[in-house]
Amino acid sequence: MLDSTETSLLEVSELNTRFYTRRGVVRAVNDVSFDVKTGSLVGIVGETGCGKSATVRSILGLIRPPGKVISGTVFFDGDDLLTLPSKQLRRLRGARIGFVAQHPWGALNPILKIRDQFRNVITAHRTANSDECYEMALEMLQNVEISGPERVLNGYAHELSGGMAQRVVIAMAMILDPKLVVADEPTTALDVTVQRQILDLMKTLITEEGRSMLLVTHDLGVVAQYCDSVVVMYAGKVVERALCLMYSLIPLIHIRKH
Ligand SMILES: Nc1ncnc2c1ncn2[C@@H]1O[C@H](COP(=O)(O)OP(=O)(O)O)[C@@H](O)[C@H]1O
Ligand SMILES: [Mg+2]
Repeated sequence: MLDSTETSLLEVSELNTRFYTRRGVVRAVNDVSFDVKTGSLVGIVGETGCGKSATVRSILGLIRPPGKVISGTVFFDGDDLLTLPSKQLRRLRGARIGFVAQHPWGALNPILKIRDQFRNVITAHRTANSDECYEMALEMLQNVEISGPERVLNGYAHELSGGMAQRVVIAMAMILDPKLVVADEPTTALDVTVQRQILDLMKTLITEEGRSMLLVTHDLGVVAQYCDSVVVMYAGKVVERALCLMYSLIPLIHIRKH
């Protein structure tokens, strides 16, 4: 552990996830342990295929066959997510943990107006009428600095650019005020010019409200600029944990080359 003086919001221990494929067993997550302190931004970095997505999907209970979480504990705010009944886990996702995936299109419904998608997210977790949902969504879209928020709410996903769609997804992930936001390469699918704007925005929204974030990326520059600490993965394992200070990035760069 890097610093055990602050409380952990998320504590992952000895997590193991396998994919049972026809070609054999893929040990996608291998004894992975790390934690996210309250109010901190933690990066998970590593090359494609090293198990970053499998790790966050395991934490969120989103691994589907042929995959299976076979052992480990994931403590979040007092609950072991791996033993929580699926109904309770679904309630927790969205309300106490927000998830932002790589492709905004996968998270948005193409045939529902954006306002109705916000309403579905909100009413899945609390009682609110249509007007209240609209007002909440409008305020959140203003927070993510989207231009023409009313037009966006009354339109459909296909009318949005990639950057705008990801802002909508971020707004949906944060509308119920989650303590933790998990973002899996949230800007990889976007133009380079938009990437930094979105990351700046996420960092502001997270730190202003005292939330925590687990940010998956393959970009060490992003980790250095946005995260407090980093978990480096290689072939399903954690090979390095470090605070994001300049000196601690030197061994990381070294690892990346080998
Ligand atoms: N649904 C799946 N079926 C079989 N193997 C999978 C599946 N999802 C991921 N894997 C394998 O698990 C490993 C880790 O993948 P992933 O977590 O997606 O990597 P990353 O997000 O770091 O790029 C890879 O070897 C990948 O091929
Ligand atoms: Mg991935």
